[in-house]
This record gives sequence, structure tokens and C-alpha cells, in this order.
Amino acid sequence: MSEPVATEPPEELAARAEALRELVRYHSERYFVDDAPEIPDGDFDALVAELEAIESSHPDLADPTSPTRRVGGSVAATFSEVRHRSPMMSLDKTTSYEELLAWGRRIERYVGAAVGFTCEPKIDGLAMSLLYEDGRLARAATRGDGTVGEDVTANVATVAAVPRVLAAPAPRVVEVRGEMYMSVPAFEALNRRQSAAGARSFVNPRNAAAGSLRQKDPGVTASRQLDFWAYQVGEVVGGPSFERHGQTLEWLRRLGFPVNPHTELVGTLEEVDAYCRRWEADRHRLDYEIDGVVVKLDDLAQRAELGSTSRAPRWAIAYKFPPEERTTLLRDIMVSVGRTGKATPFAVLEPVSVGGARISMATLHNEDQVLAKDVRPGDTVVVRRAGDVIPEVRGPVLALRPAGLAPWSFPERCPSCGERLVRLEGESDTFCVNLDCPGQRVQRIAHFASRPAMDIEHLGERSVAQFVRAGLLRDVADIYALTPDGVAGLEGWGGTSVANLMAAVDASRARPLANLLVGLSIRHLGATGSAALAAAFGHLDRLLGATAEEIGAVEGVGTVIADSVVGFFSLQRNRDVVERLRLAGVNFEGAGEPQLPQVLSGKSVVVTGTLEGWSREEAEAAIIARGGRSPGSVSKRTAVVVAGSEPGAAKLARAAELGVPVVGEAAFAALLDTGELPAG
Ligand code: IVH
Repeated sequence: MSEPVATEPPEELAARAEALRELVRYHSERYFVDDAPEIPDGDFDALVAELEAIESSHPDLADPTSPTRRVGGSVAATFSEVRHRSPMMSLDKTTSYEELLAWGRRIERYVGAAVGFTCEPKIDGLAMSLLYEDGRLARAATRGDGTVGEDVTANVATVAAVPRVLAAPAPRVVEVRGEMYMSVPAFEALNRRQSAAGARSFVNPRNAAAGSLRQKDPGVTASRQLDFWAYQVGEVVGGPSFERHGQTLEWLRRLGFPVNPHTELVGTLEEVDAYCRRWEADRHRLDYEIDGVVVKLDDLAQRAELGSTSRAPRWAIAYKFPPEERTTLLRDIMVSVGRTGKATPFAVLEPVSVGGARISMATLHNEDQVLAKDVRPGDTVVVRRAGDVIPEVRGPVLALRPAGLAPWSFPERCPSCGERLVRLEGESDTFCVNLDCPGQRVQRIAHFASRPAMDIEHLGERSVAQFVRAGLLRDVADIYALTPDGVAGLEGWGGTSVANLMAAVDASRARPLANLLVGLSIRHLGATGSAALAAAFGHLDRLLGATAEEIGAVEGVGTVIADSVVGFFSLQRNRDVVERLRLAGVNFEGAGEPQLPQVLSGKSVVVTGTLEGWSREEAEAAIIARGGRSPGSVSKRTAVVVAGSEPGAAKLARAAELGVPVVGEAAFAALLDTGELPAG
């Protein structure tokens, strides 16, 4: 962020600094005064960091009225003003471990004596000041600009986590500071209620907490499940005095305040570093959002010695995690049709780096989701990518919406075949039900040929698309009608590759029934269900003759799969395909090929991240084929977690917590071979 500074000519730099000041002032207002930030914190912090870099490397360009010298915004008109007894300061921030450690070393050098650091999660909420007189909540105020905040007592009094009366013995006066926040489950529940009521959803928990705190009607606040962590004692009259921060936290606990249990006192900078890295990896284990770690000097006398600048104490620093939310332009909303015919809207984005990955597309799930979020092509949108969760479009930045931007509506016709799309009553998904839809055709046929299904080498999606274009393939049964002459003329197909393909097609006729069932792309029926049905019925003809009740009675197969299977085989077109597969000599029996040794029988193996040699589907199929299970989450029944690149932090953390071994790809190969982890 600070690199370009030195090279730009001075006039341009001065203009940039002025523009940045204006932007930072504007966005502080939106954040602090309106509770309606237009850009995510990550974007805001980047603006401030750039401005700070210019001002510190070019003192001549610094400006005494710059927002870098102040704490925040000012006060909105709705609530009455409260002058804080002592200023509510901000924290210096860093996003680099080098800077964090440099800060720590400066402190150590300055203080000289033994240094203790308190490390605390940095809660992503709103700073609050709670004043208690004679043990009763007398006044609750927001931070405002740090000097003057807003009186939100009536609303805060409804928050269960905030004691209205302190546990005895309470001092005459005590001001408690801490963070008001909304947990992720409460945030999600609120958004579900908002969308059920046709109201706009909140972009993130902090936004929701701010909106909920500043309601005119305390009843609304009460319904929003706000929460609170206390982390600082302000003014105290007639109370105990303390020497260490840890003691003040202990006292706050005794007075009845929630104090974050993950707070830790450490003695070395290595431990500070380790704490920050641990929570950076584990942040999603918590059911509330944290955006960093606050590191504070524990000794209160040492704090007093260090003092503060005009905006922040010198004895504390916030290490901020890389942002998981950024804004970007929503170029378009398109719809893709998958092999089951499901038409899924997705966002086409101006590429943006977020959560450690470059994002240019994000699913929007279904029509209702697009409507609830009210995102429109041309909007600036907030994009979020957290841990191993797929990227998500959270919502539009309304203030940046160009005038006259039309709402998006779901296309009436399939983008692939032009047939009318169908959304059934009570369903959230929209489907193209045309079995001849070319959009589904390529993917369906490629899926039939893929490793978890009929495993036909040399018949990947590219070749399938080529054969479909050439008129050689219309459905999966056509694979067995491919001839060397038909393929040989096509681009890229020589004598050897044609012969290899023919041999692979031929070999696939012998695959077991479970693989054939996977290959038919029956909605809801995956590898596990297919294996269960193949084992229970033994032959495709017995499955064809079964009722939904009989199918649903198979262990591991519910009514949803049963109805889908019966629905699939009741279509004449699908029956025809089955008959042509039979004529082509495709195996319909359960055990068409010797079963793999069931080395993973009864074992549960969780896969996370990207493996080089297996797609996620293939890895799971390989586990299931050996008798194992491959659920999506880690539990105490998990035998081992296989982690590829960019594994899910939450899964790794859970595994560590439960003592489940985590292994890499090489060990996974050994596991598939022998059922055992290699020694060492
Ligand atoms: S201490 C003078 N501790 O971060 C120090 N702040 O960027 C006062 N925050 O305004 C703050 N968790 O809203 C402190 N454990 C924590 C915190 C925390 C979140 C917020 C707080 C503060 C902001 C500074």
C-alpha cells in the first residue's frame, strides 16, 4: 500500500493526499455517524494506510486537520450527546508480523523491566462505554468521535449480556468499556427474519449490531440478540485499584461482565506472534467475528509511563487479519445450467483479491437469494471469502448504485437450449427440464465418463464437447456407438489416441452397477446412495421394478432420493437410454468387477483443500469404494483428515482439538492402498 509513494511526482502526491483525506472523512462519517458503512473495513483501512504512508514520508504534505489525527466520526442527531469522562481512544493497527514484533521490541526496550503482554481477540463490533453509579447502569454511550458519543442507554439496557445491576460490592462509580457485537448465528437468524419480512438483509454482523443498537424503539433492540465483551475499566470512584490489566479483567468478571475467555497473558514476543497466528487460522471457530488481535501491555504502571498519542495509546496495538471482505463491480449476473438441469445464477465480478484468493465469480445460489440481496448488474458489491467457504456476494453498496439501475430478473428461458425454465411451487431452484438441452448434455456425458462413474479415460469434458459438436454424442448411450472411423477425422485424434479411447470405452462396460448409477446423473443420488442401492438391489432391473417405498427403505437412502430415482426411470426417454446401454453390453449387476479390498471399512476420512491427484469427488469416491465414509465435517468419529493445498482452517482446528491426525496427499495414497497411515 505504501510502495508507490516515493516515485510519484510531488504535485500528484499532494493531490492524492487531499483526495484520500476527503475519502477517509466521508467514509468515517458513514461508519461512525450513519452506521451505514459503504465499504468494508479492509478497503477503509487501505485508504488510511495509504494516507498515513504519504503523510509520514512527506511531512510537508501533512495537514493538522487530517483524519489520520482524529479517532472517528462525530455524533448523529437522533440520540443525545454524551461527553466521555476520558477520551475513548483508537488503536494503532498493523497488518504485518514484522511491524507487530518491531512494536513489541520498542516496548521492551523502553520499559526495560520484564514485560507481560495481554493478547485478546479483536471483536468486530462497536466500542461502548457503560457507566455504573452505585452499582446500577446509569448510562450507556457509543464512542462517537472519541470525545463525544451518543446516549443509547435505553437500548443497551435491553441487552442480556450487559448487567443492569452489578454484583456486590460495587464501587460508587465505575465506567466499563467493551465491545457490543452480534454473534454469527444471531446475525444469520436476523437476516432470515428480515428476508421473510421482505426487508433488506444486513451485510455483516457488525453492521447488524450497529443498526440494532441505534433503534428508536428499544423493543427492536431487545429482539436482536446483541452481545457484549468487557475489556477495559475507565474511571473508578471508590473501588479497588489494580496493578495489572489481568486483575481488572478478573474484577470485571466478578462484577458480572462477560470477559472473553480466550484472553491470554504471555511473557515473550514469540508467544505474541504464536497467539496471533493461531487466531488468524482459528478465527472461524468462534461463533462471533474477530478481525484481529489486540496486544496490550499488562502492567498498568508501565502503560502510564508510555502514555498515548493524540489518538491512540502507545501501550497497545491491533494486529489486523487480512480482510475477508472487499468491494468490487458486479459486471453481470448469468445463469449456468448444470448436469441435473438446475439453473444457477452467478455473479460475474471485476476480479478482486479477497481472503487470499482472486475472485472473479461467485454463486448467487437461486432466484430468491438474488432478490433478497437485491444485487443488480452495475452495482458495487461486497464480496466475502472466509476460510474454505466458497466466495459469496453479501450485498450491494447502495450509495454507489448508479441512478436508474434496473433490478435483475431470472431469465425465462434456458441460456443453453432456449426452452422455458421451470420453477416448481415451493422449490427454491429453477430447472431446465429438457433432457436434450445441450448445456446439460456435455456435462452429463462428461460426468458419466468421469472417474467416480464409468471411469472412461481420454473422454474428458473437452473431448465430450468436441464429440457433441460433431454430432457423435447426444446422450450417454451414444458413447458405446462411437466408432474409430467417426472419431478419427476429428481434430487432435490420431490412430493411437483413437485406439486408446476405444479400449477405454470398451473397458467401462464392466464397471459395477454403483458406478453406472452415479453416471446417470440422477438428482440427489451421489456415490454413497448409489453404492447402497447397488448393494441392496444387485441388478438394475430389480431397481427399475422397485417402488419409491422399497427404495426409500434402503439404509442411507431417504424419500428424497427414492422419489428422484423413481421419477428418473419413469421418463420414457431415460428408459430408452437404459435399454440402449443394455444392448451395448454395459454391466447392470452389482458386482461386475472384483470389489476393491475394503481397507477403510467403517472409517471416516475427511478431505479438505485441493489435492493434486484427485478432485474432491474422486477422493470421496475412492474412500467410499474401499468401504469408508467421507463426511463434510470433522467429528470425534473422524479417523483422519486429508489436507490438500488451502485446507479449511475450521476443519484443521477441529482436528487439532479432537486429536484427529491430519495427513497430506502421499499419506492419503498409502491409506487407500493399505487402510493404514504410513509410519512416522
Ligand atoms: S482496547 C485504548 N480491546 O477495536 C484501547 N479494543 O480499533 C481501547 N476492539 O475502539 C480499545 N476488541 O472498538 C480493545 N479486546 C479489545 C477489542 C477492542 C475490539 C475495538 C474497539 C476499539 C477498536 C480499535
